[in-house]
Amino acid sequence: MSSDPVVEVRGVDVVRGETRLLRGVDWTVHADERWVVLGPNGAGKTTLLQLASAHLHPTRGAVTLLGETMGAVDVFELRPRIGLTSAALAQRIEARERTGDVVLSAGYAVVGRGRERYDVHDLTRAAVLMQQWGVTAMAHRAFGTLSEGERKRVQIARALMPDPELLLLDEPGAGLDLGGREDLVARLTALAGDPAAPAQVLVTHHVEEIPPGYTHALLLRGGQVVTAGPLEQVVGQEALSETFGLALSVQRSGGRWTARRAA
Ligand SMILES: Nc1ncnc2c1ncn2[C@@H]1O[C@H](COP(=O)(O)OP(=O)(O)O)[C@@H](O)[C@H]1O
Ligand SMILES: [Mg+2]
Repeated sequence: MSSDPVVEVRGVDVVRGETRLLRGVDWTVHADERWVVLGPNGAGKTTLLQLASAHLHPTRGAVTLLGETMGAVDVFELRPRIGLTSAALAQRIEARERTGDVVLSAGYAVVGRGRERYDVHDLTRAAVLMQQWGVTAMAHRAFGTLSEGERKRVQIARALMPDPELLLLDEPGAGLDLGGREDLVARLTALAGDPAAPAQVLVTHHVEEIPPGYTHALLLRGGQVVTAGPLEQVVGQEALSETFGLALSVQRSGGRWTARRAA
């Protein structure tokens, strides 16, 4: 892989009060890579994405995003170049907002419709993204009337709207039914295979949600990296068992993964 690094985390600790949310984390993401970040609740996954989206500064160590070192760059210039979806951001979208506007308004980095007019380029891009994420039919409906799966897809279309160089997805599969999950995995697989798409980082605690085409994995437990590297080398019985603190049997079939408690 010869592309430029988009995320460089070096010796990072994040400390809040007495708690070390992250300790000694080293991580590099290149532009052509698609990473899954796996770990149990409380492992520090969301904290890591907060760092990678320029929403949090490390207590110790260095974070460089898209070639810009945190602390030496205006984060308000950096953030529009990074797409992020999370439960916290979703909560900030007003239930009565028109779905089409949720996607469209992202170009102006505001939640809600700030302008009365958008240019043709924005309208076209929003229409294409809504088609790709299967939410065109809901464009005129209020965001609050959508199913959980539809909302997740609207959020991803919104995150892609400013054509980011890095896309960070914090548990997009949470709360989806089986059909919703499979639809999401299929669309993420298509995005993973698109050479023009940004670098991607998907946070989950379910190996079933790893889209085929993802290239790397980082396993996190108690704020520390258990292991990180190419997916096939990293996602195995031993490392997953250590990460989740449970003896697991892990299988891969048809490009998908499953894990269950070892017999
Ligand atoms: N501001 C904070 N102060 C103290 N502890 C926090 C704070 N934010 C998060 N934590 C704790 O840090 C740990 C990691 O949180 P988080 O990154 O959200 O984990 P994950 O996304 O993997 O579930 C959790 O145990 C959480 O309770
Ligand atoms: Mg989290």
